[in-house]
Amino acid sequence: MAGTIEVRQARLALGSRPNGMSKPRKLHVKSFGCQMNVYDSNRMADTLAPAGFAETARPDDADLVILNTCHIREKAVDKVYSEIGRIREMKEAAALEGRRMVIAVAGCVAQAEGKEIGRRAGVDLVVGPQNYHRLPDLLARVERGEKVVDTEFPIEDKFDALAAPARSAIAKRGIATFVTVQEGCDKFCTFCVVPYTRGAEVSRPVEKIVAEVVRLADAGVREVTLIGQNVNAYHGEGADGRPSSLARLLHRLADVPGIVRLRYTTSHPRDMAEDLIAAHRDLPALMPYVHLPVQSGSDRVLEAMNRKHTAAHYRDIVARMRAARSDLAFSSDFIVGFPGESEEDFGETLTLIEDIGFAGAYSFMYSPRAGTPAAEMAQIPQEEKSERLQRLQALVTRQQRAFNASFVGHTLDVLLEKTGRETGQLVGKSPYLQPVTVVAPASLIGEVVPVAITGVGTNSLFGVPADAARTHVPEQILTAAGA
Ligand code: SAH
Ligand code: SF4
Ligand code: F3S
Repeated sequence: MAGTIEVRQARLALGSRPNGMSKPRKLHVKSFGCQMNVYDSNRMADTLAPAGFAETARPDDADLVILNTCHIREKAVDKVYSEIGRIREMKEAAALEGRRMVIAVAGCVAQAEGKEIGRRAGVDLVVGPQNYHRLPDLLARVERGEKVVDTEFPIEDKFDALAAPARSAIAKRGIATFVTVQEGCDKFCTFCVVPYTRGAEVSRPVEKIVAEVVRLADAGVREVTLIGQNVNAYHGEGADGRPSSLARLLHRLADVPGIVRLRYTTSHPRDMAEDLIAAHRDLPALMPYVHLPVQSGSDRVLEAMNRKHTAAHYRDIVARMRAARSDLAFSSDFIVGFPGESEEDFGETLTLIEDIGFAGAYSFMYSPRAGTPAAEMAQIPQEEKSERLQRLQALVTRQQRAFNASFVGHTLDVLLEKTGRETGQLVGKSPYLQPVTVVAPASLIGEVVPVAITGVGTNSLFGVPADAARTHVPEQILTAAGA
């Protein structure tokens, strides 16, 4: 009984009164940055749901706004500070109507600049990425009038303490979802803040991940992307007590009923193990699209970045992976204008891109981050960075367009995810994450359907279910083709 009373008191402290006495409170979570933040945002919402918080898409009428922030580049941080200003205005407007809005700042800016953010007017709570499981308690302290900053790295595992999503929440989030399997980074690339904001590399145990994926599949999820800052360095404890590789984890998850597609991101070239390469050959559920950041094609720059691999090593991995599965396509991340990058170094990056041929890429101008070694090195002028970025982007855009166009007249398997903008349309994803718009009945949502690709938009493909396409092919063409 004592336990029941305690739970009840905790709920009262959070303002969720017994049935009917008050309306449920509204939570708005806004995610910036990478997919790890998207996953964390969902888990924060799941953890607050039992305390009576229901998610809303609108920040202005929310009782609690959580900004889940990114610290990776200066621009990302600027965006966060301007968003804090915007939400603070909403908070002031709410106060004039006699409503209290609580503003919480989470994520990597919270971790890196916690104290400074805590001093900002309007901000009630600052919580670092390792402490989301403590949110109900931290909010109770805010309710009591405290301003709370919690950015320490706790001993307990947040994943154990975070609440699992309700079935309805899973269903609302869609057919394809992310699951964090690894967090943090020990690599210390000289440009990067992640080892400081997310801490040391930790892998979740295999059985916990399997249980989570089974639960997701039961609620209708068909595609899972395993995520981690260094996902291919995954080494979580297996059922036998020994560390499991990412490849073994993927094999295990491919057996979960209902899961038809698996992906993983983001990988580091140094951890692209032989068994992971083989998994691309052996596991049909593992999609043939790999995000493998290289950053630069120049060995001199790679060394200064502390990437601990050469351009030749990267080319070799790509070749071995393509040998394991011939339809494999790659995307990558590039940084231009890293300190000391000469025109010749940059030229080597362009050559690497020409040689490999990417299906997509994210590219950034180097942004100096306080506390990282590269910020102390001699910097490249802004105009030069910007000019190089344009040249690099023109090249990868050309490659991406050619890649997309190459599918016209061919068939691609599409996992249909939701209804499209026009009536009768469904939207799904190809194995290469291309959005594909198809005219097909809504009963096919959740199915993988072969689609004959008929056209290409800026960032998407159009097609018709291959079976339907076949029935519409005029008789004389079929005869001429000998069908
Ligand atoms: N863990 C991943 C990447 C994490 S950050 C990896 O090792 O590849 C995502 C991307 O942001 C990086 O790949 C890099 O291209 C870019 N990035 C990170 N720090 C940056 C900085 N200081 N300036 C510009 N781009 C940066
Ligand atoms: Fe950052 Fe490098 Fe770690 Fe990736 S591997 S998160 S770029 S330090
Ligand atoms: Fe940004 Fe943190 Fe992700 S810095 S990219 S949100 S790990």
